[in-house]
Amino acid sequence: MTEPAGRMKDRRVALGITGSIAAYKAIELMRMFQNEGADVRVLMTTSAVEFVGTLTLETLSHHPVDSDVLALQGDGRIGHIAAAHDVEAIVVAPATAHWLGAMANGLAGDTVTAACLAASVPVIVAPAMDGGMYAHPATQANVARLKEFGYRIVEPESGVLASGLVGQGRLAALGSIVDATVAALNGLPAATAAGGTRAGGRTVPGPTRTDMAGLRVVITAGGTAEPIDPVRFIGNRSTGKMGVAVAGNALDRGAAVTLIMGNASVEPPAGAHVVRAETAAEMQAALRALTPPAGPRFDVLIMAAAVADFRPRSPSTTKLGRSAGLTLEMDATPDLLAETSERVRASLPAGSRRPILVGFAAETGTFERVVKKLESKGVDLLVANDVAEPGSGFGTDTDRVTIYSTDMPLEELPLLPKYEVAELLLDRVLIRLENAAAKSDIPADAGAHQPAEVGQ
Ligand code: CTP
Repeated sequence: MTEPAGRMKDRRVALGITGSIAAYKAIELMRMFQNEGADVRVLMTTSAVEFVGTLTLETLSHHPVDSDVLALQGDGRIGHIAAAHDVEAIVVAPATAHWLGAMANGLAGDTVTAACLAASVPVIVAPAMDGGMYAHPATQANVARLKEFGYRIVEPESGVLASGLVGQGRLAALGSIVDATVAALNGLPAATAAGGTRAGGRTVPGPTRTDMAGLRVVITAGGTAEPIDPVRFIGNRSTGKMGVAVAGNALDRGAAVTLIMGNASVEPPAGAHVVRAETAAEMQAALRALTPPAGPRFDVLIMAAAVADFRPRSPSTTKLGRSAGLTLEMDATPDLLAETSERVRASLPAGSRRPILVGFAAETGTFERVVKKLESKGVDLLVANDVAEPGSGFGTDTDRVTIYSTDMPLEELPLLPKYEVAELLLDRVLIRLENAAAKSDIPADAGAHQPAEVGQ
């Protein structure tokens, strides 16, 4: 495996793709950025989607592709605004004549222009089109206008074009686009490169390590709240501390983290992509949307949420009065972990590396049911703790856990801060990921953790 050259190590870049035949080259360009150590998220115009499918880009980037200017992210943020605030540079390659015109005039009809308008980061633009179109005074005026904005233009090359004609319009050599991006990022102070700010104005600390760089981790945290009526619900004592600790640890190690968050009394860590899910049904919907086959591929699922096991059969749409007393009929909820495990395994392409799945088991007094849960939920690791023990369980800052796995004897860890439990747990996840990669036919499929091999 070739190590990333690292000129863009830990940098977050948006790649804007517009509707030129050269759009296919953007896939290779994204890989080159990843090989340099960058985390790349992709924005596309609708015509770019006609040239290259989003699935390839989502799979390789480990992020959803944003091609709809009206779309909201799962956490309610506007996709292109979130992208504009989350990245340190935007690279538009290829940029069509139409896009140059829209950008020069500030017409935000697509996610790429909109993100550029909203961002205050370097923008690198690599035009690609017919030679006559590029030479036209209108296009040249638009390019000049973009230069006035401070955008760096990577001039197209001369040569044979898609039309068979010869002219200056061929997308610049990908290496020179990468070099221009590296040069633009080098001009930024290190603090901005490592962190940056989010829409909420919080400063986001950058990763302190990179052993999970390029890995896409989905984590659930908190408890679910199952409505009885618009005012009351059936909940549990989960505060979300453990799931948030795991998310924080994964972010510190360079992972891209999606946090599906139920009822919690702690804030999600800055830098996580947060999707709120109050009920078991909402958490089920989020998991379905964020994992295959409907959602993008991921590398690790950590199911730390305390999902309700029962929910009221027919919640009232109006507030129930006290006078009559109350008998509730309850239905069992589906086992979200078991169903996710089954669905993801069934949808894996033959020979590809499978993700590592982790569950939690809150027990009282005895762990005798844990081995059975490990099997029935189809997970690699199950973290059990005795919530009846002082200092271990709901709402505490520490936990004493026992890690059960399918391939090793159980491990009893001492009472530790939850962040340290998360650290030791993710160490064990990484070992299993390496083992799973070694067993798969296409280890490259695993993602940017092995950037040089992706797709080769
Ligand atoms: N879990 C789930 N869906 C549910 C219940 C639990 O995905 N409906 C997940 C939890 O997130 C946790 C694991 O399963 O990772 C174990 O949860 P636990 O409550 O210990 O197990 P249950 O299957 O609910 O078994 P029991 O309530 O009988 O202990």
